[in-house]
Amino acid sequence: MRRPTRFGAAARSEPVRLGVSPGRSAISVVAALVLAATTGGCRGMTSTRPPIHPNPSMFHQPKARPQSESDFFYDGASMRQPVPGTVARGELREDRAFFEGKDPKGDDLVHSPVATTPELLARGAERFQIYCRPCHDARGDGKGVLAQRGGVPTTSLHDPKVLNATDGHIFNVITNGQGLMPSYRWPIPPEDRWAIVAQVRHMQEQRRAEGAGK
Ligand code: HEC
Repeated sequence: MRRPTRFGAAARSEPVRLGVSPGRSAISVVAALVLAATTGGCRGMTSTRPPIHPNPSMFHQPKARPQSESDFFYDGASMRQPVPGTVARGELREDRAFFEGKDPKGDDLVHSPVATTPELLARGAERFQIYCRPCHDARGDGKGVLAQRGGVPTTSLHDPKVLNATDGHIFNVITNGQGLMPSYRWPIPPEDRWAIVAQVRHMQEQRRAEGAGK
């Protein structure tokens, strides 16, 4: 036989009332409406005001925003530098010839370190159209829109200066810019810069061939 617990005994002697008194039910309805209006009602709707956080928990915490000052670090900046000597994955740039167009002595490479293949030339021709044509024009004569409309003196890529320049020099002009020409270091990765150098050489050769045929 089960021993009646205190709870069991009470439940038997006095039936549990499931209903709530009218006053209480009105309060709970209002409370539910307020909760719905403050939290649920705003879901999926846009508002210019910041959202209401009944429980702010981790939304408001001390944290360093980008470019902000810091009392904590000695240099007063919240943004930290990588540990000296750190190399991010895929960012090892030991191959000076490929990444800088220089030989070990620091002189511009005479010849590109990348072999010229049909694929490289196709890529270079495409990249040239995107990045160089606006100023140097499709044939490299330096008569692009910038020269036409802005009167900017743009070097012809068939100028003896460029014909006699080393591949490394052209690579470095693309990388760092020169005079009025901006740097294309960030938009054009090194392999594409070499592809463009190959394309410039190809265009120069074509022009030479045209001249010889006349
Ligand atoms: C926004 C216009 C512009 C674009 C784009 C541009 N160039 Fe130039 N480039 C110039 C101007 C202007 C000069 C003349 C620079 C000066 O003031 O000496 C120049 C000069 C050069 C020279 C001659 C450098 C020397 O030794 O005097 C080379 C080579 C060259 N550009 C290659 C390129 C290649 C390759 C590209 C495409 C990746 C390119 N440029 C894209 C404007 C441009």
